Amino acid sequence: MSPESPKLYHIDSLELGPMENFIYLISDTKTKRAAVVDPAWDVDAINQLAEQKGVTITDILLTHSHHDHINGISALLEKHDAQLHLLNAEAKFWGETLQTPTLHHGGDVFSLGDTQIEILHTPGHTPGSACYKINNDLITGDTMFVFGCGRCDLAGGDPEQMYTTLKKMAEELPSSTILPGHNYAVKTTCSMHEQIEGNPFMHFDSSVDFVQYRMHDHDRTRQSPYSSMHK
Ligand SMILES: [Fe+2]
Repeated sequence: MSPESPKLYHIDSLELGPMENFIYLISDTKTKRAAVVDPAWDVDAINQLAEQKGVTITDILLTHSHHDHINGISALLEKHDAQLHLLNAEAKFWGETLQTPTLHHGGDVFSLGDTQIEILHTPGHTPGSACYKINNDLITGDTMFVFGCGRCDLAGGDPEQMYTTLKKMAEELPSSTILPGHNYAVKTTCSMHEQIEGNPFMHFDSSVDFVQYRMHDHDRTRQSPYSSMHK
């Protein structure tokens, strides 16, 4: 693609609500279709952004089912005829009766117009946590934050799974740009390379040590906004 070619898609973010959630709007350039990732807190703001961009919301993508990521779904579905996407494993864990769900398995790819979106199964924060991969953009929900990761002590959390998930992401997605589910760091986004260098959760070679740090030591020794920590 020449440098002048328009991008096939664009990702905008909104920071909404009392927990510094990031809500993403993925817009397909050609068809003007758009997907909202984790609609929550202020659906008017989400609708306004879509109107400004001149796009139609046709899809809703969930990274996981925690309240702060899903509390705008009903309001959004009142206004838009949108398809809901999540992993089958998360739907089972959640146990909610959902309107128009498409239940995926990790590795599924679906189309938003001409834009291909891959859903990855990244358990640890919840059993069916997902990341969404669009080219090198990786929307990570509460699996990976900039220089941090999601907690594993809530229902369905599993720090050993989180250890495996983060290792796998570093190995398999080295060129990614991380778009996290919360604004908990000194910057809003970073590369996987910066994560490998500066995210303390990426510095463990043993799951036992990782589990100790995630479940006990991290929250006592470190506060947001998270900055880079070298090994
Ligand atoms: Fe969460």
